[in-house]
Amino acid sequence: IFLKGFFKPCAFILYKREELSLSGYRESAQEHFFTIRCPDECDCPPSFPVAMYCDGRGLTVMPTIPSRVKYLYLQNNAITAVSDSALVNATNLEWLMMHHNQLTSDAIGVFNLQGLERLYLQHNNLTTFPSNLPRTLAPLVNSFAADLEGMDNLTILYLHDNAVTDMGTSLKALKSLTLLDISSNKLTKVPEALPENLHQLYLESNSIDSLPEGFFSRFTQLQYVRMAHNQLTDKGIPANTFNVTGLVELDLSYNKLERIPPVSTTLQHLYMQANQIKEFTLGSFCSVMDVTNFSKLRTLRLDGNEITRQDIPTESTLCLRLASSIEV
Ligand SMILES: *[C@@H]1O[C@H](CO)[C@@H](O)[C@H](O)[C@H]1NC(C)=O
Ligand SMILES: *[C@@H]1O[C@H](CO)[C@@H](O)[C@H](O)[C@H]1NC(C)=O
Ligand SMILES: *[C@@H]1O[C@H](CO)[C@@H](O)[C@H](O)[C@H]1NC(C)=O
Ligand SMILES: *[C@@H]1O[C@H](CO)[C@@H](O)[C@H](O)[C@H]1NC(C)=O
Ligand SMILES: *[C@@H]1O[C@H](CO)[C@@H](O)[C@H](O)[C@H]1NC(C)=O
Repeated sequence: IFLKGFFKPCAFILYKREELSLSGYRESAQEHFFTIRCPDECDCPPSFPVAMYCDGRGLTVMPTIPSRVKYLYLQNNAITAVSDSALVNATNLEWLMMHHNQLTSDAIGVFNLQGLERLYLQHNNLTTFPSNLPRTLAPLVNSFAADLEGMDNLTILYLHDNAVTDMGTSLKALKSLTLLDISSNKLTKVPEALPENLHQLYLESNSIDSLPEGFFSRFTQLQYVRMAHNQLTDKGIPANTFNVTGLVELDLSYNKLERIPPVSTTLQHLYMQANQIKEFTLGSFCSVMDVTNFSKLRTLRLDGNEITRQDIPTESTLCLRLASSIEV
């Protein structure tokens, strides 16, 4: 039986040593005893007191986290809620692993984690993120939404495999975020307010059918975009949406596109298999072709569309001169 707030005291010898001083006198052996608190159902290795391991133990209730903990492993349990008290003192947390639990959006309480760098919430039961509980309904609770504001160091956020329909706007506050994975959720449109320093944006396996004008051009660092297994159509994609320099990889496979959209000559990997493409438009890759103007594309997948190898014009070898494999 787990008693919330109950800690087993453990005495650990952090070090025991004998030292030979320069003068040749052996100093007396010293033993330093420290007590580190650890919830019964977790492991707190004495050699690494900033980590706490509570993963894969069938927990349904979240233990209270001591303030020394930086790395918290709570994945693979059946935790349904983050109570207000559980994280109230965990102000030093840097990595919070809570993937493969049963967290629901309305069951996340005080979350005052300004130093957090990595947040793993994939494979939970979240329907909104952050929890958009109006503060007026929860005057005593610092809502999760409000607290995202201070998370200046968060770089990685995994939210894939939940049931999120709406991302709200407060992710924009996460100014250090470089990787956002919200694949396998229930989004019908791309989140509008996203942080501008993203390098990787993973949106595959949602139900997104369109993109707003100039969506990708606002991200100056974006390199990897994955939008496979959505409902994208030509109509929903404004001209030049994907023609942004900096992109290295673009995955648009398993959508409903009938044309190859214009892409930047700097793009290296383009996945468009399993769409409804009827024409090979070389102009999507090269608007001009000469000795120095050519596409940097290395991988091009067009298999599972409505074209054959005969549809690829011979001039394409000039434009796509680096493409080692073109699959049709
Ligand atoms: C948080 O820390 C304060 C001060 O050390 C302590 O009084 C309080 O009981 C702690 N709260 C929890 C939930 O552990
Ligand atoms: C979370 O989702 C799973 C699978 O859909 C379901 O079995 C479980 O009851 C849900 N848990 C909560 C707390 O809603
Ligand atoms: C963010 O990271 C920087 C550099 O590691 C550190 O100095 C700063 O204290 C961190 N901010 C918070 C709120 O922990
Ligand atoms: C991409 O945009 C640039 C200008 O930003 C333009 O010169 C180029 O022709 C466009 N590429 C394609 C394939 O349309
Ligand atoms: C590449 O094409 C652009 C647009 O036509 C042109 O301005 C530029 O001079 C070309 N680059 C070179 C090195 O020929």
